[in-house]
Amino acid sequence: MLGKSVLLAVLAALTAVNAQGEYLGFNYGAHKADGWTLKVHDDFLEEFQFAQKLAVNNGKFSSARLYTMIQGNEGDEPIEAIEAAIKTNTTLLLGMWCSIDPKYDPVGHVKKEISALKKAITKYGSAFTDLVVGLSIGSEDLYRSSAMGIKNKSGIGAKAEEIVEFIGMVRKAIADTPLKGTPIGHVDTWTVWVDGSNRAVIDALDWIGFDGYPYFQSNMPNNSIEAAADLFWESYEATRQAVSGKEVWITETGWPVTGKDMGLASANVKEAQKYWNDIGCALFGNYKTWWYMLRDADPTPPEIEFGIVDAKFQPYYDISCKNAKPSPSPVAVVSTSSAAPSTSAPASTSAPSTRALGSTYEIESSTRDSGSPTNTAQTAAKTTGADAPSSGFAVKATIGLVAAQAIAVAFFLL
Ligand SMILES: *[C@@H]1O[C@H](CO)[C@@H](O)[C@H](O)[C@H]1NC(C)=O
Ligand SMILES: *[C@@H]1O[C@H](CO)[C@@H](O)[C@H](O)[C@H]1NC(C)=O
Repeated sequence: MLGKSVLLAVLAALTAVNAQGEYLGFNYGAHKADGWTLKVHDDFLEEFQFAQKLAVNNGKFSSARLYTMIQGNEGDEPIEAIEAAIKTNTTLLLGMWCSIDPKYDPVGHVKKEISALKKAITKYGSAFTDLVVGLSIGSEDLYRSSAMGIKNKSGIGAKAEEIVEFIGMVRKAIADTPLKGTPIGHVDTWTVWVDGSNRAVIDALDWIGFDGYPYFQSNMPNNSIEAAADLFWESYEATRQAVSGKEVWITETGWPVTGKDMGLASANVKEAQKYWNDIGCALFGNYKTWWYMLRDADPTPPEIEFGIVDAKFQPYYDISCKNAKPSPSPVAVVSTSSAAPSTSAPASTSAPSTRALGSTYEIESSTRDSGSPTNTAQTAAKTTGADAPSSGFAVKATIGLVAAQAIAVAFFLL
């Protein structure tokens, strides 16, 4: 029979695991499917209503990540997505755009983002502020200003010291508003987080926004869809280990249905379906996740199309997770198999994850330094990912069973 303390421990652990997955949603850009026309209230409303009806793993896509507080290309009027979020009870991971050509006064632009936020607070009050789950100061700015971003011609970025300055401005600006205490983060590619030169940004944040796309990792020896789950979890773990216990939120991931081949990755419906099933269905309900994305702003081939539905909301593939066999994190699963399942949460420092850390770092540093991973890294990549997921299933199933028993016992005791 299960002791009471075991029962409580299991229930507490379940709560902790669920708390990690409390927010599930999509990223929402500012433009319509033509890639040009600005979205207005009705466009956001239509998308949020569709997302809220998508039931996956008992979770709903009831959260929206935005990239800017401002409606349109100028001024400081609040983005109309806010009103649509209020109408649909959609939680908000707000964003501020922070990459502006130095000629056009980046600090002045961030002030406008702040001003739009303050206007929204005044206009909508707690109907708005109660929905806010976080605020991101920037999006992939550090990637765009990195050597890789410049080489890839990814556009204007911002440097670590600028992002730190903007974080300070925002914290100060919201200190006397109802949004005081809102967790402040920055969203960037995982390569940025494992790059020591961005340390000051990590230190200034409450949470870390992780963007990871195995599809784009063409510099790896194998970024095929078969290897995608391993690449995803290795990059996630490398990020977790690099950010000294700060919570990592999965702010962007996805796989395109059209676009060019990247290394061994292809953009097509079959591979996008597999990525959704393997990674998406493992994340939904278990990790704070904002998928990239519901409806892409540029679905015209040969552009890269990441949407899961087309311009008319027709899904490109089965998005139910019903036939999925997800690939959960090998590391999280190893920690859940130890006494306390809740150690699968980001701060885990258990021995197994440290071991995984060693290998992910080998992969990462060799990738960064030379662009072509060494044999050591390839071997490491194999050992981190290959057999773990299946054992992971067993462990998860066991926890589920123990939990069911614990709940049964709890009822019995009542
Ligand atoms: C809004 O959604 C939250 C969960 O995100 C739920 O707890 C709450 O009851 C909902 N409110 C309304 C008015 O539907
Ligand atoms: C950026 O460059 C890297 C390394 O050359 C490449 O692997 C990656 O696919 C590129 N990213 C994008 C978004 O094109």
